[in-house]
Amino acid sequence: MADLTGPGGADRRADWWRDAVVYQIYPRSFADGNGDGTGDLAGIRRRLEHLAALGVDALWCTPWYPSPQADGGYDVADHRGVDPLFGTLAQAEELIAEALRRGLRTLVDIVPNHVSRDHPWFRAALAAPPGSPERALFHFRPGRGPHGDLPPNDWRSEFGGPAWTRVPGPDGAPGEWYLHLFAPEQPDLNWADPRVRAEYEAVLRFWFDRGVAGVRIDSATLLTKDPALPDVGAGDGPVPHPYADRDDLHDVYRSWRRVADSYPGGRVLVGEMWLPDAARLARYLRPDELHTAFTFDFLQSPWDAERLRGCVDATLASHAEVGAPATWVLSNHDVTRTVTRYGRADTSFDFTADRHGTPSDLELGTRRARAACLLTLALPGSVYLYQGEELGLPEAEDLPPDRLRDPMRIRSGGAHAGRDGCRVPLPWSGTAPPFGFGPAGGDEPWLPQPPAWASLTVEAQHGMPDSMLALYRTAVRLRRTALDAAARKPGGAPAFGWLPSPDGVLAFPWGDGLVCVVNLSPRPAPLPAAHTLLLASGPVHNGELPPDSAAWLRPGGPAGSAD
Ligand code: GLC
Repeated sequence: MADLTGPGGADRRADWWRDAVVYQIYPRSFADGNGDGTGDLAGIRRRLEHLAALGVDALWCTPWYPSPQADGGYDVADHRGVDPLFGTLAQAEELIAEALRRGLRTLVDIVPNHVSRDHPWFRAALAAPPGSPERALFHFRPGRGPHGDLPPNDWRSEFGGPAWTRVPGPDGAPGEWYLHLFAPEQPDLNWADPRVRAEYEAVLRFWFDRGVAGVRIDSATLLTKDPALPDVGAGDGPVPHPYADRDDLHDVYRSWRRVADSYPGGRVLVGEMWLPDAARLARYLRPDELHTAFTFDFLQSPWDAERLRGCVDATLASHAEVGAPATWVLSNHDVTRTVTRYGRADTSFDFTADRHGTPSDLELGTRRARAACLLTLALPGSVYLYQGEELGLPEAEDLPPDRLRDPMRIRSGGAHAGRDGCRVPLPWSGTAPPFGFGPAGGDEPWLPQPPAWASLTVEAQHGMPDSMLALYRTAVRLRRTALDAAARKPGGAPAFGWLPSPDGVLAFPWGDGLVCVVNLSPRPAPLPAAHTLLLASGPVHNGELPPDSAAWLRPGGPAGSAD
């Protein structure tokens, strides 16, 4: 059994996850080791230095398992392997070990709501008759209407269209329908079947045995369904909802927690839970359930002081009730990149309101994204960064339509722009695409990179004190120093609370007595007197913080008298 607490490994704290900074890798687009235009495990390993230089504590890789890639790998055909597109299982094991030697833990993505249509279980289900044990692992039902040619209920796929697809019966004539809350290539598992529960507990063990420090749980609120599969109807649907946030789901995660707790070194369960109600979310974070869950309300909030303050208050209050740390996130592989979002007239994020192509002032968006970096890294809890956020990449909004791969776009017939624009391969070096994404002479990246990214490569930003990369590197390191110093103080870090501040300005103490000030107002904001400026996201003149900027300060005059 891999022991994460051993010498040369990551730090010894079993509760490392409470304040960790985790870097999200989308393997297809991080770095290409073999020159086929798609990122892979060899590429990640070669670029681990970037993560070490950034100072993060862990990395989370989105699915690398064998998959037809109908949904970027979230259609898993074998949860115990690695897709040849990305490498081999041996390479995954080497990556986990190598990362650990550099002090970086690895989290993998577990996809429990559905599998791929190519998964052996689903193939067997298709080959078996209605009512068979093979079909009982999924949700197969006869259709409605006199000929059964209407879907069994009104549930809609997250990617558009009905959540049901009909398959031929044993005689070749149209037969039963199966449920897929996402694409038809992603049939939903039946979590009422004990074989499903046993399988996923074995999958968790499989990866924990390989030294993985935790799992991000995909679509974590959707697993269990009302066995009657009733219509959702109009509005938010019946209460309890037939498939979202059902009470019987907690029992699943209690058994997962027992598995995680049976390993040394603090193995962590992180939920992807899009729940608007902070109190409902916190129920999953009770001490015997998940360790953490993303605060998506933060990621969806507009650039507005009162909205963000409200989100922080609601999150911290609900999490405190169950003793769980908050988990802050500004972006991921499903949402508009921050620089573009914050430069628009409407700075909120909403899956149902496609703002693709609406004008964005990228300079303004970049200023705000820099300020958001300092805000996020100062809040109590853990932080997830999505690859490219540290480079200030904007959303790629003019990708050639024939190169787009996201089922959200394809299944909406182009009505929704989809998520490819935040999944473009990273620019590492050089002045033109492919920007060092793969070895020289390799294939073109799977999605084209905008030529304007020449100024955003890791190489171009390295050593540039005003770059986004320099800000992230400095901020992540300062944060670690401040949190470690706070942990050594009797009583630890001070309790969170807002400091008095003008309208549109957020100010709060954090770490070992530092202060974070964020100016979301249109006017310059005076910084607190008798403080030393440690780091600012924009130019500070005459003790004033410009609009759309943030600063970290330490009490005491410039001479450091308070220290
Ligand atoms: C999650 C993933 C997303 C995927 C979906 C279905 O939301 O983050 O990328 O499409 O689940 O697995």
